[in-house]
Amino acid sequence: MNYTVTLIPGDGIGPEVTAAAQQVIAAVGVQIEWERHDAGAEAAARTGNPCPDAVIQSIQRNRIALKGPVGTPIGKGYRSVNVTLRRALDLYACLRPVRSLRGVPSRYEHVDLVIIRENTEGIYSGIEHMVVPGVAESLKIVTERACQRISEFAFRHARAIGRKKVTIVHKANLLRLTDGLFLDVARRTAQRFPDIETGEVIVDACAMNLVRDPSQYDVLVMDNLYGDILSELTAGLVGGTGVVPGANFGDECAVFEAVHGSAPDIAGRGVANPTAVTLSAAMMLHSMGERDAARRIERAVERVYAETDVRTPDLGGTATTQQFTDAIVRFL
Ligand code: NAI
Repeated sequence: MNYTVTLIPGDGIGPEVTAAAQQVIAAVGVQIEWERHDAGAEAAARTGNPCPDAVIQSIQRNRIALKGPVGTPIGKGYRSVNVTLRRALDLYACLRPVRSLRGVPSRYEHVDLVIIRENTEGIYSGIEHMVVPGVAESLKIVTERACQRISEFAFRHARAIGRKKVTIVHKANLLRLTDGLFLDVARRTAQRFPDIETGEVIVDACAMNLVRDPSQYDVLVMDNLYGDILSELTAGLVGGTGVVPGANFGDECAVFEAVHGSAPDIAGRGVANPTAVTLSAAMMLHSMGERDAARRIERAVERVYAETDVRTPDLGGTATTQQFTDAIVRFL
């Protein structure tokens, strides 16, 4: 079967790591026609718009995109490309599977968590103002609809991938109305999934528990701010954002992307670690129904770490992006 997928190479190391993922997908034998679009800081410098309408239209048409990291020019009045895409495509669920890779130095060996973050509201709604000089106010918006769809996404996803437990992360002891609504709606959703165990934890306790013993959690669902912070924390438990994949889902389309940024400090040198974006590409193949190809890619990445000493400089090695990619392809 032939697929058409929107490709946003992005800024900095984005083109280098997305090219690696394309090479791996081609090697596994999935035929994809890539519809390439530029977005980010370089696109803004060239065209005056960091996220042209054509990018959004392409994703709406193809329903699926692979995206490299993008920068947003700061202080020029542009809205972040990631926020623009999330809003325009209503990508309300951010999914981050966090798994240990044998051979990647980290604090724990068998971490296997899924972080599901509400992507569209909460304190990141962007509604802030100065009340009077010296006093700023930011509004946390929580709607029943958003709580409903993110909790439903979490339970459905847990069931689909054979997970046993969903933990609702909140701060309803202090934020009685906003987080209270989140907790209340998530509890009601849980009742419709009797085959999945439900847990609840206050976000600060959750952060401590994750650092002390991440094995006590399975799937975690939470609001935007907590998800932003805990997904970085959990990435840190398995070797950092360079090795953790991610995806943003709406009801109509999905954008798969590495968790890390455009790494301007190493851009153009051919030494970026392509693991995160390659594993994101594998997630993309799963969602396209190409499960066998997806599993083969995941297994090949695991084997590079477990059975070779090929490492990019971020993990203490000397391999280039191309040498690392070639190592993945050899295991395919
Ligand atoms: P960053 O993730 O780009 O870099 C942090 C450190 O990690 C740097 O030392 C970098 O070299 C290293 N690093 C990141 N990814 C790597 C990889 N694949 N291989 C090897 N080393 C890697 O974070 P930073 O510096 O805060 O952000 C740089 C730019 O990226 C900013 O413009 C930011 O807005 C953007 N950004 C974009 C994201 C996205 O599009 N999803 C996410 C995070 C940041």
